[in-house]
Amino acid sequence: MSKITAAITGVGAYVPEYRLTNQILETMVDTNDEWITTRTGIKERRILKEEGKGTSFLAIKAAQDLIDKKGIDPKDIELVIVATATPDMKAASTAAFTATHIGAINAFSFDLEAACSSFLFGMSVASSYIESGKYKNVLLIGADKNSSFINYKDRATCIIFGDGAGAVLFEPNHEGLGLQDEILRSNGEGREFLQATYGGSSYPITADTFNEGKHYVFQEGRTVFKNAVFNMADVTERILERNNLTNDDISWLAAHQANKRIIEATASRVSLEPAKVMMNIHKYGNTTSATLPLLLHDYESQLKKGDKIIFAAFGGGFTWGSIYLKWAYNS
Ligand code: UT7
Repeated sequence: MSKITAAITGVGAYVPEYRLTNQILETMVDTNDEWITTRTGIKERRILKEEGKGTSFLAIKAAQDLIDKKGIDPKDIELVIVATATPDMKAASTAAFTATHIGAINAFSFDLEAACSSFLFGMSVASSYIESGKYKNVLLIGADKNSSFINYKDRATCIIFGDGAGAVLFEPNHEGLGLQDEILRSNGEGREFLQATYGGSSYPITADTFNEGKHYVFQEGRTVFKNAVFNMADVTERILERNNLTNDDISWLAAHQANKRIIEATASRVSLEPAKVMMNIHKYGNTTSATLPLLLHDYESQLKKGDKIIFAAFGGGFTWGSIYLKWAYNS
């Protein structure tokens, strides 16, 4: 019998209606459209404004989009992974709530947190369950409501992040398509440069820290930028080498959308022409766990069976990595 590989067989997505444009941000903090566009490539981001709606709301919408598009019976889904850095609540699993809401009543589910690399690491986990032969339908959702921990008075962070979600289904493949190889890494020394310090178990929120805004995300942008460029480009180059791939062999680069300059630096390291570089940061900003599935959603109609896609991500922790996947279907 041929080896089982884990292929993506469907994509769904959801972004909230509200568009927070650079022009609106100009009225909120000391910034301008020209600075944001040249430094990051972002023009607008989507924000989930409705009170009481968290990451699961985005995750459910994206999963529902996939279920409707593919005509799946949610009862056939065996595992639901919600990759997220912004779970609905402490203690209660966002994935369990999401799975039940979409009707995946026969599934087990769990959250996976690796900051901006959550979805990339989730691809590895979802694929391993499929490759083991034990599971045949694994739903991986990347969803984040970043606006829930952004300080809209801090220009260093509020211009970057947005809300959104994307979902993919992994199924077994017997033609050798799907996930081929991965290089995944982490380094806890990076924690100090990107974190929301208060609100976790180390430092619970107090009235004083709340008033000082210490529960919001803090980022030492320049250090994160340098590490992102170096590490994302490094693993991308290595995964190409390890699989004897040249830039001509690669159909697409799907890189985490944190900053256009980081994505371009990664592409340039492996001499990839701009037409092969998926890009939608201008529309959504950095949606953390949702950037990779949102790219797949936006480019799905251009993807062809057998296309060789290199995924890459870098995020808080630090966490980073690269995955080589062969696309499994024509739209
Ligand atoms: O997804 C998780 C991983 N995250 C990332 O990969 C993000 C990585 N970092 C970045 O993308 C970039 O570092 C930022 C976009 C956050 C910042 O861009 P930068 O080119 O690194 O800017 P900088 O922090 O070095 O600041 C340059 C200047 C400073 O002014 P001076 O000191 O040169 O006078 C800042 O005060 O730009 C100023 N500045 C701004 N000006 C207008 C910083 N933020 C803004 C702003 N608008 N929003």
